[in-house]
Amino acid sequence: MDYRVNSKQPNNGDWAVEAEGLVKIFGDNRAVDGVDMHVKAGTIYGVLGPNGAGKTTTIRMLATLLRADAGSARIFGHDVVKESQIVRQLIGVTGQYASVDESLSATENLIIFSRLLGLGRAESKKKAAELLEEFGLTEAAKRPLKNFSGGMRRRLDLAASLIAQPPLIFLDEPTTGLDPRTRSQMWDTIRRLVNTGSTVLLTTQYLEEADQLADRIAVIDRGRVVAEGTGDELKQSVGTSSLHLRVENQSDIENARQTVEQVLKVQATLTSEAAKITAPMANADLITDLLIALREKGITLSEVSVQKPTLDEVFLTITGHGVEDEKTKDTNRAEAVTV
Ligand SMILES: Nc1ncnc2c1ncn2[C@@H]1O[C@H](COP(=O)(O)OP(=O)(O)O)[C@@H](O)[C@H]1O
Ligand SMILES: [Mg+2]
Repeated sequence: MDYRVNSKQPNNGDWAVEAEGLVKIFGDNRAVDGVDMHVKAGTIYGVLGPNGAGKTTTIRMLATLLRADAGSARIFGHDVVKESQIVRQLIGVTGQYASVDESLSATENLIIFSRLLGLGRAESKKKAAELLEEFGLTEAAKRPLKNFSGGMRRRLDLAASLIAQPPLIFLDEPTTGLDPRTRSQMWDTIRRLVNTGSTVLLTTQYLEEADQLADRIAVIDRGRVVAEGTGDELKQSVGTSSLHLRVENQSDIENARQTVEQVLKVQATLTSEAAKITAPMANADLITDLLIALREKGITLSEVSVQKPTLDEVFLTITGHGVEDEKTKDTNRAEAVTV
């Protein structure tokens, strides 16, 4: 089945990103294997995929930091190879900021950054103080950067990209490993970037994050885009919720599975775990009907839950395999590669 959603938007010049057939090969590893991507200006585009899927490599090619082995890409109509100088003026990549000066404080770094961008002395100072306040970094403002935690660094990075506010901002896993409070702060800031005119291309390992933020999402797996569309379209293909249930008596399992399929009108899966059934649910409310039907058949449950589908389940549905193999093959690549 093809989950690809055809986006029939006219190419009327307002594309922030147009990429066709991007390929990057490391040794015999086709890290990016023919990626097409179209991002409309003024939107948030999410690239969703597990560790090692090729997200960072794709961003690095779009951001002129890495030459593609095949394919082409344009940023606001400018070719990333032939017009790389122009492209660099139109983009911001989180991660670049951290290299300013590790021994200086957060405030000093932000001020230098503002001055480099041409802001006046007083304005730079004011801007730095405002941003540190907004990102909850006021307490740490005087500390040298080298003493910052990963989460604090990430916030400072994003603060720095707010000063320049380039038309297109690449955020590579901006919230991986952040606590929930900092994560939702990040989400607000990302939305603000777009509300004030920027386009954001972000990568994430979290379905919920892509769904919350992105206007459109590309699911990337082993260097290929395996699904593309809005969050709703994506979830329709995998169900908005995911049902997990276990029967008390192993002998009821087949009967229970059929009941699930009849009531939910989907395909239910028996997992390798003893007597466990999982199924996508378009509507979590159907659980009531299901429980009544199971009771009427005299099937006793030992466990039932309705959860949001995990990235693993999305992948399982779309690609027919989970994310486990990539994880074991390639632990923490997200942290290892910075752009
Ligand atoms: N500089 C590099 N040299 C060799 N292999 C690389 C390099 N960068 C990435 N890779 C490999 O390319 C694949 C995709 O990596 P990456 O783009 O970092 O994935 P993601 O960002 O989705 O986690 C992985 O198998 C990774 O090991
Ligand atoms: Mg990465």
